[in-house]
Amino acid sequence: MSKIKNIGVLTSGGDAPGMNAAVRAVVRMGIYNKLKVFGIYNGYHGMINGEIEQLVSHDVSGILQRGGTILKTARSKEFRTVEGRKKAFEQLKKHKIDALVIIGGDGSLTGARILSEEHDIPCIGVPGTIDNDLYGTDYTIGYDTALNTVVDAVDKISDTASAHNRIFFVEVMGRDAGFIALRGGVACGAEAILLPEKENDINRLETFLKEGFKRKKTSGIIIVAEGEQEGGAYEIAKKVKKEYPHYDVKVTVLGHIQRGGKPSAYDRVTASQMGAAAVEALLDDQKSIMIGMVNKKIVHVPFNKAIKNKKPINDELFNLADILSI
Ligand code: F6P
Repeated sequence: MSKIKNIGVLTSGGDAPGMNAAVRAVVRMGIYNKLKVFGIYNGYHGMINGEIEQLVSHDVSGILQRGGTILKTARSKEFRTVEGRKKAFEQLKKHKIDALVIIGGDGSLTGARILSEEHDIPCIGVPGTIDNDLYGTDYTIGYDTALNTVVDAVDKISDTASAHNRIFFVEVMGRDAGFIALRGGVACGAEAILLPEKENDINRLETFLKEGFKRKKTSGIIIVAEGEQEGGAYEIAKKVKKEYPHYDVKVTVLGHIQRGGKPSAYDRVTASQMGAAAVEALLDDQKSIMIGMVNKKIVHVPFNKAIKNKKPINDELFNLADILSI
């Protein structure tokens, strides 16, 4: 029997649709197993300030279908310091919290790893980020909804691009990773996809710019990941306009629209499975692991592996996108 009686749950870093579904699963799976569950508001910042309240089943009613996070979220500079983490741990002790579930991206899991090393508190991570950039899991909560938002927006842009014979550079989120850009680009039939993981973006655009219109293309969609090496959609568009002044070039930055909205069915189900699996892992005396999903099955990934390794881009899908865009 596990000694754990009281657990805390927080969301941290950029919000992602489906985080609420994960919170609900943690709370209800915790209560089902006779644990007390505490919500920690505003991420690690709120942990330091003692923004902690017990949650009962009713507190998480009606949140499964809502975007954002009822626990709020933040990026905390103070938690990056030894003193900050000590203050946070004092607050956990005050509320008799003996284990944590952290829902967030790599920065949030890094914080959890250090906290558990310094203060010997079991921490389980649940991957919550639209970027899908965590190693060891096929999927992170929010990615599917964000992709669907991208597809919906780009379909609309394609209509006007075609009506005016324009080339649109559409910038999607992904500061360090091109997963949204790649899958979104394939789903929208983009003429080119520019990712932080790939070099020579301008050169890769040339085929489309030189040949595409000869092949009777009259408009084009280029998907650019935010962290792309030339500096994003505006920079690339500027360079293209300079070299090919006859093209009518426009830029749309989709921005935070990608982070909001109702979670997709896929995000809701997977977030529920992952949240529940996090509580089960704690009851099984696991610590310092991230819950992942590989081939549709729950897996446990040690924090070190999930944080230190870089998740590779699917090169086959990238090449396929190139072939299908001719
Ligand atoms: O990590 C998720 C993410 O949405 C990135 O894709 C993006 O670069 C970043 O967060 C934006 O963060 P903020 O909302 O703090 O500007």
